[in-house]
Amino acid sequence: MRIVITGGGGFLGQSVARALLARGGLGAEPGASTELTELVLVDQVMPQGGVADPRVRQATGDIADRAFIKRVFAPPTHAVFHLAAVVSAGAEADFDLGYRVNLDAMRLVLEACRQQSHPARLVFTSSVAAFGGELPDIVNDATAATPQSSYGAQKVIGELLVADYSRKGYLDGRCVRLPTIVVRPGRPNRAASGFMSSILREPLSGESAICPVPLDARMWISSPARAVDALIRAMELPAALWGSNRTLNAPGITVSVAEALAALARIGGKACVERVRFEPDSAIEKIVLSWPARFATARAGALGFGVDSGIDDVINLHRQTRP
Ligand SMILES: NC(=O)c1ccc[n+]([C@@H]2O[C@H](COP(=O)([O-])OP(=O)(O)OC[C@H]3O[C@@H](n4cnc5c(N)ncnc54)[C@H](O)[C@@H]3O)[C@@H](O)[C@H]2O)c1
Repeated sequence: MRIVITGGGGFLGQSVARALLARGGLGAEPGASTELTELVLVDQVMPQGGVADPRVRQATGDIADRAFIKRVFAPPTHAVFHLAAVVSAGAEADFDLGYRVNLDAMRLVLEACRQQSHPARLVFTSSVAAFGGELPDIVNDATAATPQSSYGAQKVIGELLVADYSRKGYLDGRCVRLPTIVVRPGRPNRAASGFMSSILREPLSGESAICPVPLDARMWISSPARAVDALIRAMELPAALWGSNRTLNAPGITVSVAEALAALARIGGKACVERVRFEPDSAIEKIVLSWPARFATARAGALGFGVDSGIDDVINLHRQTRP
């Protein structure tokens, strides 16, 4: 089977690629694996020392370039992880770029799937940024999407497109609203939520970090491992289990900055916490605090999606797996 990952040079793209290569394929039904023969990583930039394997092909280019996307999807493609995006603070800072990549380019990817002789399965990475504004204390599967950022709006439009293309039978799509992924390894991207990883990752490596939000700020987070599992599970679940609702709130845990720093002290010692400086940033605060921090994810639970056991385990996992 041929699998395409857009954003395949990014953090999650590389992580999903590694997981797929290790598994050797995808099950159309859980447990029924279809062998992976070609894994195409599509990105405008590829990381140094990224995933290397004889089954991997790199396609470097701009997903908003119609001819490029046409070439990428010319060979029969069975599954697509659509991860490429201008992330939250980036899409807020550059309105036109956000819509160009997160909406116009996504249409090109969906149209390329539509041209396949058999409907491809597609997983789209949506986000908790789909929610914002006046929200219930606990967001559940029935809470309406009310994004309060351009990024969030683009994610919700993407979800609607995936649902409509699926309804028409042009593809078999699944959208996963991911929590903020913590601890993200490597250098930060332009995600407004990136500080939550920085205040844990940098101090553990002996470096200082800046926290732009107050101690009581809370976030809905997931470890990279749980997020990758969620994306692969979303791809493998039979279409019948998705039914007409193609969007899922992924499980996560609620963690405040204070709780994260207390865990950091337990694991790395007090000196680690002293490396974190508080420098309020109203732009970051405005975006991040518009996102809900508490969810009830009954549907994900019923569909067998796993959840982290707590912030200490999330940090320990990072320490065990960091390069
Ligand atoms: N990491 C998180 O906390 C998180 C949370 C919720 C949702 N998401 C979503 O998951 C996806 C992956 O996130 P990530 O953390 O790996 O981000 P990332 O920034 O590491 O990866 C995104 C990749 O998309 C690529 N890209 C951007 N514009 C492109 C273009 N025009 N053409 C080709 N490639 C382009 C970038 O070069 C980058 O490598 C994104 O859709 C993001 O919105 C991430």
